[in-house]
Amino acid sequence: MGTELVREFTQRGYHVTGFDRFAVDVTDGARVEQTLADIDPAIVLNAAAYNQVDVAENEPAAAFAGNALAVRNLALACRQVDARFVHFSTDYVFDGTAGRPYTEEDQTHPQGAYAVSKLAGELYAQAYLDSPLIVRTSGVFGPAGCRTNRGNFVEVMLRLAKSGQPIRVVEDHVASPTYAPALAARTADLVEHNHSGVFHIGGGVPISWFEYAKLIFAGAGLNPELRPTNEREYRTVARRPKFSALSNGKLELAGIAPMPSMADAVKSYLAAREEILNGTR
Ligand SMILES: NC(=O)c1ccc[n+]([C@@H]2O[C@H](COP(=O)([O-])OP(=O)(O)OC[C@H]3O[C@@H](n4cnc5c(N)ncnc54)[C@H](OP(=O)(O)O)[C@@H]3O)[C@@H](O)[C@H]2O)c1
Repeated sequence: MGTELVREFTQRGYHVTGFDRFAVDVTDGARVEQTLADIDPAIVLNAAAYNQVDVAENEPAAAFAGNALAVRNLALACRQVDARFVHFSTDYVFDGTAGRPYTEEDQTHPQGAYAVSKLAGELYAQAYLDSPLIVRTSGVFGPAGCRTNRGNFVEVMLRLAKSGQPIRVVEDHVASPTYAPALAARTADLVEHNHSGVFHIGGGVPISWFEYAKLIFAGAGLNPELRPTNEREYRTVARRPKFSALSNGKLELAGIAPMPSMADAVKSYLAAREEILNGTR
């Protein structure tokens, strides 16, 4: 997501400085404070996160440092330089029992260490700043994922297809996978329209991970042996919300363009991925 935010804001004419963890570790409060004092930015976007949902169950303090205390560092530093703060959060703040896409008014009920730490991050942003913008999103996939170790769901599916083994994907978990470039563009629109508070930006349509995998293979022209499974057969360390799709209703009411369809998003991803692998992007 960070890659796409840099790209989107740069295209819109902003002078953007991007940081990775080696330039600024956001858990280091003094470093964050010094960096913001040096740059004196108008806007700070925080796409850094501790995202290892299962590992977090064994190291909740690390998750809390990266997702909560780091947000406190950023919020305090933003207050000092009077910068607007844009922070990203997750559909995992919900328990997944609503059975319909979650709105910003829905009660949060995180299910594990990662989810608790992300909700705490939201609270820290709201505790220290009057009007932060908090964007909750879901299942992010951006072209930069084809170059990172962790990748994203599309990359995992393409890798598994290459292995020739049968692929099993859960059909009883539903989310709203979100195309990072479209998310970055809607975030920039929210910023430019001076919105604050909590906004949901999900892929727009609830879809099971199994159906999403089918879309990916159709888009990539692949035909691996894909079988549905479920959470009973495929246990993970961390509990995850079963239905965590996000409603974009508030976003669209604010006059921001709807998100692209899943089929179009996957098509765009695969095209951008080709460009990256060919060295033309
Ligand atoms: N990915 C999803 O499915 C998803 C779903 C819902 C919400 N979100 C939220 O969306 C936001 C962006 O996620 P993403 O998918 O772009 O995640 P990502 O690909 O894992 O990127 C996170 C980045 O943060 C960096 N980072 C981690 N700890 C850091 C630290 N202490 N200081 C500085 N940088 C640090 C990571 O560096 P390293 O690579 O060196 O670790 C990585 O570059 C996060 O707030 C995440 O919680 C993501």
